[in-house]
Amino acid sequence: MILPSKTEGQVKWKSPSNIALVKYWGKYGRQFPKNASISFTLSNAYSITQINYTHDPARIKNLVVNFTFEGKSNKAFEDRIISFLLSIKDEFTFLSNIALNIDSENSFPHSSGIASSASAMSALALCLIDIKQKIEGKTLSKLEFTKITSHVSRLGSGSASRSIIPKLAIWGEHPSFKSSNEYAIQVDEFLHPIFDNFHDDILIISPNEKSVSSTAGHKLMDNNPYAEERYKQANERLVHLTESMKIGDIVSFGKIVEDEALTLHALMMCSDPSYILMEPNTLHVINLIRSFRQKTKLPIYFTLDAGPNLHLLYPDGIKKEVESFINKELKTFCHNGKIIKDQIGNGPEKLL
Ligand code: DP6
Repeated sequence: MILPSKTEGQVKWKSPSNIALVKYWGKYGRQFPKNASISFTLSNAYSITQINYTHDPARIKNLVVNFTFEGKSNKAFEDRIISFLLSIKDEFTFLSNIALNIDSENSFPHSSGIASSASAMSALALCLIDIKQKIEGKTLSKLEFTKITSHVSRLGSGSASRSIIPKLAIWGEHPSFKSSNEYAIQVDEFLHPIFDNFHDDILIISPNEKSVSSTAGHKLMDNNPYAEERYKQANERLVHLTESMKIGDIVSFGKIVEDEALTLHALMMCSDPSYILMEPNTLHVINLIRSFRQKTKLPIYFTLDAGPNLHLLYPDGIKKEVESFINKELKTFCHNGKIIKDQIGNGPEKLL
């Protein structure tokens, strides 16, 4: 048998985080979602991953991984990456004869409370498929590359499947969309111009690590008494949300997005065991946002990830008013006054 010759090289990708508007919460099988979700791809919150690789079937008989985070070894991240790579080894056989030197960094501080699995796993998936193309000497079409990298990202972390897609992504089968459980798709047709340069300011209420990981939270949905109703509701909200977005009805967009954020946290509170990831200041800021909105009639809304931090969503046209509101009323409730200013973004970028 003639083994393929040795290939060495370097790849580097930058991939953004995303914020779900209708949330993925509950999964089954090999990382399939219990309901479809939709998200804005972000711009300033991203991971950069670089891999130096040697593929040599004649000499390397295993998967060899050396991982560093921002130049330093990080056991917890390395373990997650290795178990992910091992989980896809059967599908991607080149991983059985390769040495990978992986270094990753985030644009946001590690302890900012920002979940990094979406950006980190998507950046890793982009590097892996890029390496596969180089080893096989084949270049996929842009469409095929997006599909397969979103699929591989999903296997690393469900929400990461959406980070591959520019601007607005849907992941999960749904009768009203040509979407899939395997990978996310781009749905720009729902982006009314009011969403051009749309803002997402992330208010860091607490930088602490979550007491219950998202993966554990998904698992608790299996026995949640409201689960089935929730999956139905999420799929219905997705239809209403996209209809509102298409016509630029920001008031109903905002209502659905806030309902989704609070539903996510309500599901955590009625899991068994129950848990609460919001902090007192999360609620305080929510109340301030709602009374500011009532007073000014400005379209500013919030959403939450699986954590205490608030994402402030608003159109570019009101950025001055929002900035002064944040500085005057909200900043004091943020950890060390920390806010990450972000906006809807154009998806991943190849750096090397
Ligand atoms: C609340 O994608 O982090 O952010 O698939 O187990 O890695 P795993 O979970 P993850 O869950 C994200 C949950 C969420 C909602 C969302 O992004 O849709």
